[in-house]
Amino acid sequence: MIFPEYRPRRLRRTENMRAMVRETALVPGHLIYPLFVVTGRNVRQPIEAMPGCWQMSVDMAVEEAKEVSDLGIPAVILFGIPEKKDSRGSQAWARKGIVQKAVSAVKKAVPELLVITDVCLCEYTSHGHCGLLSGSREKGVSIDNDSTIELLAKTALSHARAGADIVAPSDMMDGRVGAIRESLDNEGFDQVPILSYAVKYASAFYGPFREAAECAPQFGDRRSYQMDPANSREALREAMLDLQEGVDILMVKPAMPYLDIITRLRQEFSLPVAAYQVSGEYSMIKAAAEKGWLDEEAVMKESLLSLRRAGADMIVTYFAKDFAKLYAQT
Ligand code: PBG
Repeated sequence: MIFPEYRPRRLRRTENMRAMVRETALVPGHLIYPLFVVTGRNVRQPIEAMPGCWQMSVDMAVEEAKEVSDLGIPAVILFGIPEKKDSRGSQAWARKGIVQKAVSAVKKAVPELLVITDVCLCEYTSHGHCGLLSGSREKGVSIDNDSTIELLAKTALSHARAGADIVAPSDMMDGRVGAIRESLDNEGFDQVPILSYAVKYASAFYGPFREAAECAPQFGDRRSYQMDPANSREALREAMLDLQEGVDILMVKPAMPYLDIITRLRQEFSLPVAAYQVSGEYSMIKAAAEKGWLDEEAVMKESLLSLRRAGADMIVTYFAKDFAKLYAQT
């Protein structure tokens, strides 16, 4: 109903008014910073397609973790790049594997910083796929879902043993959340939550990450196990399956092209929802800013705030440090 004499006041006239009626907040406490860990010492190798990001050896990752924590960012997510890859990805669950070493070193140096580990095989397999292959090149190759989830469960357990606070399966095999939950519970890690990449699209926005984590598939693509960007009801089914298997946090990936999915998950589920602003989203902004075509700080803030407005509780982003530094100045 419209009252003719009612004239809405503009609550946007001063910064204090704007602040008072602002619906969404974004603070460093909402962010998770990804780290890529490689073997060696004193290594800090820039990732060309992701300006401001590096592959780091464990000692450097520890220094980085201290800085991240000092900036008020509560968590990092670790990706490991092993020296040797094989067809089964056996370095993924090696007791002294690269991620396992990084987890214990970071937890020792910065105990309050939450360490999340990415659980997947693609950085560890010589073929670059997220699971074990079956069949032959002549007859056609497929991913063997069920034997893969056993290895993922082993991997997650090895991360928990090394001290991981949260494990984050990103492979998209069916049944992996249940398998991981069971193996963690059986070994006394029933308090380690699972953040699943529940809704992960087969996206071209992962391009730069595949350089960062050296995990581009050597043949084929990931469309048999990642989701079709055309689908949104399927996202609810994927999330529901993970819920039934005992997931603790649901993640949507990529983020900005899938704001509708974040909102739907937020509405349909009461679990915390995470969004992953992926490498391509980051690189796009960086590249346009380098050219002087976009204002990097403004676009960074707007993109992260929009993810929060869409319904994300937490955001994995390569901008975490940049945002936190900016936040500290204001
Ligand atoms: C591994 C994994 C990928 C990303 C996170 N974990 C790559 C992929 O699925 O191809 C992408 C992250 C990014 O692009 O920033 N499965």
